[in-house]
Amino acid sequence: MKGGTGRKAGKMSGLLALSSPAKVNLLLRVVGRRSDGYHDLETVMTALDLSDTVVLERLEKGGITLDVDGADVPAGPENLAWKAARAFFEALDVEGSVRIGLIKRIPPGGGLGGGSSNAAAVLLGLNRLFGTGLDLRALETLAGGVGSDVAFFLRGGTSLCRGRGEQVEPLEDPGPLFFVLLLPPFPCPTGEVYRFFRPGDSSSEEVFRDSLERMRDPGSDPAGWILNDLEAPARRAVPELDRFMGELESLGLEGFRVSGSGSTLFRAFREKGEARRELEKARSLLEGKGVGLVLAGKAGP
Ligand code: C5P
Repeated sequence: MKGGTGRKAGKMSGLLALSSPAKVNLLLRVVGRRSDGYHDLETVMTALDLSDTVVLERLEKGGITLDVDGADVPAGPENLAWKAARAFFEALDVEGSVRIGLIKRIPPGGGLGGGSSNAAAVLLGLNRLFGTGLDLRALETLAGGVGSDVAFFLRGGTSLCRGRGEQVEPLEDPGPLFFVLLLPPFPCPTGEVYRFFRPGDSSSEEVFRDSLERMRDPGSDPAGWILNDLEAPARRAVPELDRFMGELESLGLEGFRVSGSGSTLFRAFREKGEARRELEKARSLLEGKGVGLVLAGKAGP
């Protein structure tokens, strides 16, 4: 696939199915608040083998239509997948028509990037279906206009993202990583979390560089380098999250960290067996509390 995205896709006369992975933020440093109200970040994201499927069917007429299966997310123009299709057609100045089908497995609204990932898959897929041959840089520009995390998902893998997240620098593979994801039964609205951010929550540039170096050692324990400057503001913004994280500690489920602005929590391991044991422990201790549990690995190359 163009740009070395490595995405699995099958094409059949005007119909295309793409895998659309979730992500976690391994490192997230808030650099500071900008004059436009957004915050500049330095964040390392990695794609997971937990994924949605995005099906695109090129049509002759009818504009953009969207069907969502498997999750309660909006199926109209507010969905990032729809916005991506509109941005693509506007950029090319064509009245294209496409039916988008989202088969959702990534839990929505929890900081796993499902909506952004679906939007990236739509951009990549339309570029193929319509034979437009936009290069990765052109797609990245479009992606940045659709949402902060969309550009990351054009490549997948592991990348260092700057600005609002839309400036993507691919990194070497950080070695094996397996994740236990906990999905609490409450959301963390992104805007609210940023509203509770204080300058004192920022890690220094030095701490970030040091964490990045340690991440690159495939023998390192992720507990020693995972970093998220949004964790403290997320706990202040959503008291339920604060209580939940306290409860985890008291149950002996230690080391769970917020992904992005939450509410998904994760703990990373270098060995799959360790992750599996932690999952089973979490399953028995959290039974009946409405917490979703997922075991995921880093997405393959
Ligand atoms: O990216 P998204 O539109 O989901 O972000 C929701 C809100 O979170 C933004 O309106 C902004 O207030 C805040 N935000 C931010 N800095 C970022 C990303 C989001 O301040 N890099």
